Amino acid sequence: MKARLAIFVSGSGSNCENIIKYFAGSNDVEIGIVVSNKPDAYALTRAKNLNVESTVISAQQLREDKELVLSSIEGCNMIILAGFLPKVPDYLIELFPQRIINIHPSLLPKFGGKGMWGHHVHEAVKAAGETETGITIHYVNSMLDEGQKIAQFKVALSPDDTPDDIAAKVHELEMAHFPKVIEEIVNNVM
Ligand code: GRF
Repeated sequence: MKARLAIFVSGSGSNCENIIKYFAGSNDVEIGIVVSNKPDAYALTRAKNLNVESTVISAQQLREDKELVLSSIEGCNMIILAGFLPKVPDYLIELFPQRIINIHPSLLPKFGGKGMWGHHVHEAVKAAGETETGITIHYVNSMLDEGQKIAQFKVALSPDDTPDDIAAKVHELEMAHFPKVIEEIVNNVM
């Protein structure tokens, strides 16, 4: 079965763009829609430039308007969280068992949980004097950042790396690995 992805975003959307480009022309994976909870997310501009349909669903609508959410992602059989901040409601987790995938910019369980997103993660990694960091790709369950791990990729840090340097190293890992891991999951389960 062909995978049809709904990509959920809140911000810049560099991962979203990378995924869209990676699967352009794929026989196995197509992008159904990009869903942003923020009307001003740059990810929406990226989707438009790449001719991918997009929509805005607020965090409150996500929680309270199940019909709207399900009709927006109709036909999609996998949800990719690519920098998506709101909590995923339980009804979606129940309807998409092992079909919601998140990327987190640290080696979970380190530097996960409430408040650990974007730059906060890299600043905490720096403050803790870590010698390595990385990315975690995992299934989403009802506990923030605690779903079953699918893959982790690491990068070494040097003592003089700034949080920006750490972010750049993590970004490189995300670009190199996230679409490939999605492809492997699709090949294994679809
Ligand atoms: C990435 O670092 C991702 O790991 C995290 O949020 C960031 C999203 O960046 N979940 P972008 O919007 O894809 O540029």
